[in-house]
Amino acid sequence: MTENSHQDRVLIFDTTLRDGEQSPGATMTHDEKLEIAAMLDEMGVDIIEAGFPIASEGDFEAVRDIAKNSRNAVICGLARAQFPDIDRAWEAVQHAARPRIHTFIGTSPLHRDITKLTQDEMVERIEATVAHARNLCDNVQWSPMDATRTEHDYLCRVVETAIKAGATTINIPDTVGYTAPRESAKLIEMLLERVPGADQIVFATHCHNDLGMATANALAAVEAGARQIECTINGLGERAGNTALEEVVMALKVRNDIMPFQTGIDTTRIMGLSRKVATVSGFPVQFNKAIVGKNAFAHESGIHQDGVLKNAETFEIMRPADIGLNATNLVMGKHSGRAALRSKMKELGYDLGDNQLKDVFVRFKALADRKKEVYDDDLLALMRDSDLDAEHDRIQVKFLRVICGTEAPQSADLILSIDGVEHRVTAQGDGPVDATFAAVKELVEHHAHLELYQVHAVTGGTDAQATVSVRLSEDGKIATGQASDTDTVVASAKAYVNALNRLMVRREKTKPEGNLAAI
Ligand code: KIV
Ligand code: ZN
Repeated sequence: MTENSHQDRVLIFDTTLRDGEQSPGATMTHDEKLEIAAMLDEMGVDIIEAGFPIASEGDFEAVRDIAKNSRNAVICGLARAQFPDIDRAWEAVQHAARPRIHTFIGTSPLHRDITKLTQDEMVERIEATVAHARNLCDNVQWSPMDATRTEHDYLCRVVETAIKAGATTINIPDTVGYTAPRESAKLIEMLLERVPGADQIVFATHCHNDLGMATANALAAVEAGARQIECTINGLGERAGNTALEEVVMALKVRNDIMPFQTGIDTTRIMGLSRKVATVSGFPVQFNKAIVGKNAFAHESGIHQDGVLKNAETFEIMRPADIGLNATNLVMGKHSGRAALRSKMKELGYDLGDNQLKDVFVRFKALADRKKEVYDDDLLALMRDSDLDAEHDRIQVKFLRVICGTEAPQSADLILSIDGVEHRVTAQGDGPVDATFAAVKELVEHHAHLELYQVHAVTGGTDAQATVSVRLSEDGKIATGQASDTDTVVASAKAYVNALNRLMVRREKTKPEGNLAAI
C-alpha cells in the first residue's frame, strides 16, 4: 500500500529546520534543532526535513542526532543531484526508524543554464542519482527545483524519469513563489494525467511566499491531488518565506466542509511551536500574522468585543484553545510556585528538567520582584535569555553601568567574559546604547556591520521588559541577536553580544563545494 492510498489524508512535511533555517540570520544551534524536531514529532508532523547534511559538519550532526532521537516522524535529509551529497544524507538519516533521502536539481531553463546540462544530460543525471538514493533508502523524494517555471513537456519527462528510477514522492516546488492557485492546481492535475506511474507515488507541493500566495497555492495543489504539503512553522524561510504549517493545517481543519482532507497534526501544539521557533530563530511573528500573530484573537473595536463576549463565533472562526492559546494571557506573579511554572512552561513549549526548572524559577522570581504581572511573553523572553542558552556562549555580559542624561557624552562601564576570562572597559558614545556598543566593540574586535537595532516592549506598562533585536552582517554572513530586560540598555548589550556569538557560530560553518545559492 502506498501513502497515496489514503486519499483523504494529507501528509505534513515540515522543513523549518532546513528551508526555514536558510532565512538569512535564522541559524539555530544543535540543541535548539533537536528540541524543535522533538516538538514537531510530538505534534504529529509526518516528515521532518532536518537539514542538508553535506552543507556543514554542524548540519550533518544535527540531522544524524534528530534521526537517532526520532519517534514517529520520517526523518529526511536534503541532497543535491550528486553522489557525495546523497551518501552524506544517507549517513545522517539512516539512524532514523523511518529515513528518507530528498534529492533535487533545478529543471527550469534558467537552472539548466547554470548547471550547463542539456535536457538529455539532466535526465541522465536524475536517473543515476535517484537510483543511487533508492539503492540506499526505500523512501526517496525527488524535486525538480523551479518546477513552476519548467516547460510542461520537460517537467513530465523528468518526473517520469525520477519515478522510474525509484522516487516514492515527487515534490513540485514553486521555488520563487511565482505561481497562483489556479495554475498550481492545474500543474498537479497535468502531471497526474500525463505522467505514467504518477498514481503510484505521492505528489508534494512546496510553495514560497514571494507574492503572498504560498498557503493558497499549497491548498489548491492538494485539491488537485497533491497529498503532501511542505511547510514551515511561522512560514519561516528564505525571502518572504514558505507556506506556514499553522495556516494550512488550520485551514484544512476549519474549512473541512469544502476541503475534506485530514492531517495528523495535534493543533493544540501550534502556539508552543510557533513561539519556540520565533524565539530560537530570532524572527518574531508579526502581530497580524494569521493564526499565531498576537492580534489573531484580539478584539479591539467595541462592536467586536461586545459580539465576542456574547458569542465568540460572531468574530472568531476558531477558538484560541484550538491552537493551544490560553484565553487569558495573564499567568503568574511572585507568589506562583514551581509546579505552576513548570506546567506553564510546558504549555509554552519548554519541557523543563529539574535543574532547568530550578534555574528558570530563580530568574522568574527575580523578574516577578521587578514586575507586578508576568505574562506568557515575559516568560518566553526570560527563556530566551536564560543562562541555559547562554552558558555555552563564548562572550557573556557580566556587568554594565551606564551614565546618561542631558549632559553628553554618555558613558558605559562594561565587563564581558570572553572565553572564560573577564575584561573591563569604559567607553563613551552619543547616548547610552551607542556608548554600550562602543564598549562591546573595544572588547570584541570585529568588522561586522550593524544592520538593524530595534526595541519592542514585551508587554504594557513602564515596568515592561524591552526586547531588543540586533542584526549584524559580516562578509555576507548575517546573524541576529535578541535579549530582554526591564532595562533597555542591558537588553541592548545582551542582544549585541548574542548576535556576535551567533556570528561566530556562522563563521565556523563551512560551505559545501559548488553553488548552493540557488536553493
Ligand atoms: O524551494 C525549493 O525549490 C527547495 C527545493 C530544495 C525543494 O527548497
Ligand atoms: Zn524551498
